[in-house]
Amino acid sequence: MDPTQGRDPKLMYGSQSATKKVTVPELRARKSTLLGSPELAPKIAMVTAYDYTMARLADEAGMDMVLVGDSLAMVVQGLNTTIPVTLDEMAYHCRVVARGLTRAHLVGDLSFMSYQVSSAQAVESAGKLMKDGAESIKLEGGQEIAEHAYRIVRVGIPVVGHIGLTPQSVHAFGGFKVQGRGEGADKIMADAIALEQAGAFAIVLEAIPPDLAADITSMLTVPTIGIGAGAHCDGQVLVCSDLLGLSRGHQPKFAKRFANLGDAAVNAFSAYVQEVRAGTFPAAAHAYKANAQSAAAQSERRPPISASGDELDAPLALDRWH
Ligand code: KIV
Repeated sequence: MDPTQGRDPKLMYGSQSATKKVTVPELRARKSTLLGSPELAPKIAMVTAYDYTMARLADEAGMDMVLVGDSLAMVVQGLNTTIPVTLDEMAYHCRVVARGLTRAHLVGDLSFMSYQVSSAQAVESAGKLMKDGAESIKLEGGQEIAEHAYRIVRVGIPVVGHIGLTPQSVHAFGGFKVQGRGEGADKIMADAIALEQAGAFAIVLEAIPPDLAADITSMLTVPTIGIGAGAHCDGQVLVCSDLLGLSRGHQPKFAKRFANLGDAAVNAFSAYVQEVRAGTFPAAAHAYKANAQSAAAQSERRPPISASGDELDAPLALDRWH
């Protein structure tokens, strides 16, 4: 079945079919200032996914990029920060998400301390995620990791940068706080330049003032992808559970809910609980077709069978079974 049937053709970007993979050169060419108009270069839509089911749904919706983000530490594993998640865990989630994507480009996130130690470590970690289905990797940081990014690009692995509020540095920042105010803006600008020079094909800008994001976007020749960075980036990324309204508790200001699936799920679970307790589920519609005769009627009609397959007299059989 053609998954594009009945869908808005604008979702499909140009004339690409739903099952042709979005490539790195295509994403790079989505730099809006290069092509000048939203029709020629629609903004890049990116979302996180951590499992096969979510990946399939995002892919079917026409998503351009799917990120197996280390935010899975918080969303899937229930941790307070992204710091504890391991590279092996990231690799596992890349593997399962990759199976759900036929069109969207898959970015794998390098976990904390899987790339900061040396360029050799960074290349090895990036290679591991690529072997598990990622088509590019993302790493956090600017000038301080630019050489690692360059080495990864040099071995043929496409790199997405990530600057501004980089959650792996949450303790250095003193919390999940907006970055790039005042003098901090110059550092983030310099970080963006360093990553572009290192060969990153796109750069995520997280939680920075919109005017700074706009300046960086117009300065770079590669697309910027914003999250809490205003409307002037070349694309946007959100965490899937925020977008779908699955998250409970605090929701960041920038995380628009496009649905309220969390409440829908709670309602569905509680309806199920009530029906199971009341015995109204399963109804006949949810049960397989009954045998032609009831089990009692069948055992009356059919003589018991011995281990050797011979028919037994009913009284003897009863003797043996009691
Ligand atoms: O891990 C993640 O989900 C991310 C996005 C917020 C960009 O890095």
